[in-house]
Amino acid sequence: MKKANLAVLASGSGSNLAALINAINDGVIENARISVVISNKQDAYALKRAEDAGIPAVFAERSGFNDNETFYRHVLEKLNEFDVDVVLLAGYLRILTNPLLEAYKDRILNIHPSLLPDFGGVGMYGMKVHEEVLKAGVSASGCSVHLVNEHVDGGAIIAQKTVPVLPEDTPEILAARVLKEEHKLYSATVQQFISNIEL
Ligand code: GRF
Repeated sequence: MKKANLAVLASGSGSNLAALINAINDGVIENARISVVISNKQDAYALKRAEDAGIPAVFAERSGFNDNETFYRHVLEKLNEFDVDVVLLAGYLRILTNPLLEAYKDRILNIHPSLLPDFGGVGMYGMKVHEEVLKAGVSASGCSVHLVNEHVDGGAIIAQKTVPVLPEDTPEILAARVLKEEHKLYSATVQQFISNIEL
């Protein structure tokens, strides 16, 4: 059986990338390899994690290109070079546009640290999400894996996991509780997703 070639796009620490690497090594994700990691930040720890795991690590920065279209054409060329089947966003802090969205329609997943559609959309990333959750006074938060389309955090939701919000929570404490679940949810969802698509 053909192995799914995954690309991970990350801008930051890459703890979700690390969880995906572990899930492949432990057999939680079967029949897949991470073929390439691409980051728009040169100092992203995700690139270092990729190198340490022997995965090709590519730095591609938007400012090196005239517009989004040219930038994402370059990213698309990289994905084609590595024969990528599925793109996984893991803390990737740029909005995707064509030609990438079109080329990988229904083949791009993202993980978001809230129960979408709540606390999602433009500007809702990082600690801001957890700050807003606490401000809203809700009793539960969580994480969501969704398909990526032209609407920020707006594609079909594939999986969610709920965590409690506790009275003494700070944004950092809540973020850590959610992140722990993200690592499990993303791996399990990726496994399910790739077992349901034609490769
Ligand atoms: C995670 O909270 C993820 O949901 C969001 O960005 C964060 C990335 O964390 N999209 P990491 O870089 O995987 O550690």
